[in-house]
Amino acid sequence: MKLSKRLRAVADFVEPGSILADIGTDHGYLPIAAIEEKRIPSAIACDLNQGPLSAAERAVKEANMEDVISLRLGDGLAPIKPDEVTNAAIAGMGATTIIHILEGAPEVTDSLSRLILQPMSGAGLMRKWLSENDWFIVAETLVEEDGIIYEVIAAEPGRMPIKPIMCDVGPLLWLGRHPLIKKHIYRLMQSDKAILDNMKKGKNAVESEKYKAIKEHYAELEKMFRCL
Ligand SMILES: C[S@@+](CC[C@H](N)C(=O)[O-])C[C@H]1O[C@@H](n2cnc3c(N)ncnc32)[C@H](O)[C@@H]1O
Repeated sequence: MKLSKRLRAVADFVEPGSILADIGTDHGYLPIAAIEEKRIPSAIACDLNQGPLSAAERAVKEANMEDVISLRLGDGLAPIKPDEVTNAAIAGMGATTIIHILEGAPEVTDSLSRLILQPMSGAGLMRKWLSENDWFIVAETLVEEDGIIYEVIAAEPGRMPIKPIMCDVGPLLWLGRHPLIKKHIYRLMQSDKAILDNMKKGKNAVESEKYKAIKEHYAELEKMFRCL
């Protein structure tokens, strides 16, 4: 099973030997590839919608993996029992949905030894949530595909206070000077700039606390960018 660069990065962060729950599995490619590569012995592939789950069912059948991949319909972690799996991957959804899923089944979330998360948006919010909920970021990477930079984060139980600016930049991406870090920070700056330019059109917006906060955020990013 040849994975996209984005899903490849998610698969690479799955703990070898773990039992994986793939939440929002869609096509089921992630658990199929991880088992094919002998990274994990078995998995549970879940999806909220019957259409994607049926697609996963067909792919699992084609791969002859019915014995090792269980397919379950349901919202988030609801189809999983505590201690049934050790890792959960939640990829291809916004951070707000991912957080909603993790908070929706605390007894399952708390039983996991690793989360592998690939938020399509709101990665800063995702890291803030991890930091505030006693998850330690053990690995993170950036992947560029079709002009989009994707962020992939692996976290394990533990404490890791993260400064607000680092929630957006990614503490390990910065420390390890990821090859795409400059492009990543530049894009964060562009996003701040677009908001600031838009606010400048408003009458009193430039006097607002929000404007000042975004300007300071931009300045912090610029300082980091210049270090690279
Ligand atoms: C964009 S696809 C991502 C598929 C795959 N994880 C990937 O990264 O390529 C999102 C999938 O998540 C499912 N989904 C959305 N919200 C969900 C939820 N609360 N619980 C389970 N699955 C969900 C959708 O039905 C869809 O199949």
